[in-house]
Amino acid sequence: MNALQVVSVSSEMVPLAKSGGLGDVCGALPLALDQLGVRCVSFLPGYRSALASGLAIESTDHTFTIPIAGKYVACHLLKTRLPDSQVEVYLIDQPHYFDRDGFYFDSHGEFRDNCERFCFFCRAVAEAIHQLELPIDLLHCHDWQTGLLPAYVATGFRDYPWLKNTKSVMTIHNLAYQGRFWHLDMPLTGMSWDYFNWQQMEFHNELNLLKTGIVFADRVTTVSPTYAREITTPEFGCGLEGVLRDRGAELVGIVNGVDYDHWNPANDPHIAQTYDSQSWQSGKAACKAWLQAQLGLPVRPDVPLIGIVSRLASQKGWDLIIPMLSNWAHNPDIQWVILGTGDVHYEKKLRELAASHTGNLAVQLAFSEPLAHQIEAGSDIFLMPSRYEPCGLNQLYSLKYGSVPVVNRTGGLADTVTDTNPATLQNRSASGFVCDQYTVHCLEETLSRTLELYLHQKEIWAQIVHTGMEQDWSWSQSAQRYLEVYEHLIRDTS
Ligand code: ADP
Ligand code: GLC
Repeated sequence: MNALQVVSVSSEMVPLAKSGGLGDVCGALPLALDQLGVRCVSFLPGYRSALASGLAIESTDHTFTIPIAGKYVACHLLKTRLPDSQVEVYLIDQPHYFDRDGFYFDSHGEFRDNCERFCFFCRAVAEAIHQLELPIDLLHCHDWQTGLLPAYVATGFRDYPWLKNTKSVMTIHNLAYQGRFWHLDMPLTGMSWDYFNWQQMEFHNELNLLKTGIVFADRVTTVSPTYAREITTPEFGCGLEGVLRDRGAELVGIVNGVDYDHWNPANDPHIAQTYDSQSWQSGKAACKAWLQAQLGLPVRPDVPLIGIVSRLASQKGWDLIIPMLSNWAHNPDIQWVILGTGDVHYEKKLRELAASHTGNLAVQLAFSEPLAHQIEAGSDIFLMPSRYEPCGLNQLYSLKYGSVPVVNRTGGLADTVTDTNPATLQNRSASGFVCDQYTVHCLEETLSRTLELYLHQKEIWAQIVHTGMEQDWSWSQSAQRYLEVYEHLIRDTS
């Protein structure tokens, strides 16, 4: 059988563009698929920061126009490869839409033309596949920014010949972001108004691009089995639970993997001392001392250091963390290191807390890849009490870095962290601490029992750290699951 040809389309991809886990996943999955013999080609908007990322980017001979918003907009295709690989990435170069300070927003807020920008992106990808005559069996789309493409595949958009034998997969990384726009944006999609109805592209009289992808894709996946179940309920479905229930068994949850070439304390260039599951005690001690000194905290090996790396969004549990910090941060024998950007309301609260607890609370309101690695390596405990979490990557990084995760039992956190109790210690599966309710009280109780073990049961603590570090959350298994989804789809429908 010839190699399967997959085109992956996303709005983020490391090392070219990342604001969260979507970038990590869309940069790593094509590489893992490549290892399995799948030929994967990716598309990404040609953002200003992507063009300046340092990867060698070539021009191509392909320039074309897309009719959108009453005008013809030019698109030039650029090309690069993921580092140390043959995986090709095409960049949709259109400076008016993508030569900006952010991907979706800047310091003035959300870009008002996001619908137009990402409709253009999808239409340009469809045209580019045509112009390049790319061989393609399957189109893998990620999140709302790419939701139009499954509709193009299903409806034979513009009679592109490549659509005829192509299947589509839509992966939901976060159902809370749906790409909802007012109905008069419908013409931007290039689709007929006939599709603007409650069973297809409309949602409560708005255009909904994620719903569009979910409805039209041949398969829908999300990034953990628990989240796949949760999003069919009103509590987590963000209004789309009915649409998702309608997909029945065609909705599959596959846990994200970790790219251990980039997230591995044994060879991480960002950290003060590398270490592995045998040498973690001395390695982490050095990384902790470095982090404390770097962030102006007292260099004390004896105090627990709790790390957080997170978007400042309500999803991530800040409504619990901030009240808890108010209760706990006066204790100089617990140190906190927080790295995050996002919601100005949380930034303000964190700034205030940091100002009144300078001796043990370090807050960095920034996006810093090196510091994210240094916090994973230097912390004893990693806090991630999300309200909901489709998968989550930071808890997986924490397991590998021996920074014991404290999480809420939701989505991918429930699927990847095993709570510590007598039974899980006995069978050596305990890898972290899991909080059962989304309340400040429950989180405080969970953190208290975590600290109790950290401070007074060193051997048990060492066992938990060791268990997490030895686990394998690499992409190999998850990429295999995607491959199975692709193969079923192609076999079942050909
Ligand atoms: P989400 O995608 O919902 O933000 P994940 O846990 O899946 O959550 O992935 C978050 C990714 O973004 C991780 O790689 C994490 O290290 C990174 N990240 C989040 N905030 C920051 C930040 N302020 N600086 C550097 N990296 C960050
Ligand atoms: C989203 C989710 C996160 C997931 C990431 C990558 O940003 O919030 O849980 O890990 O996508 O799939």
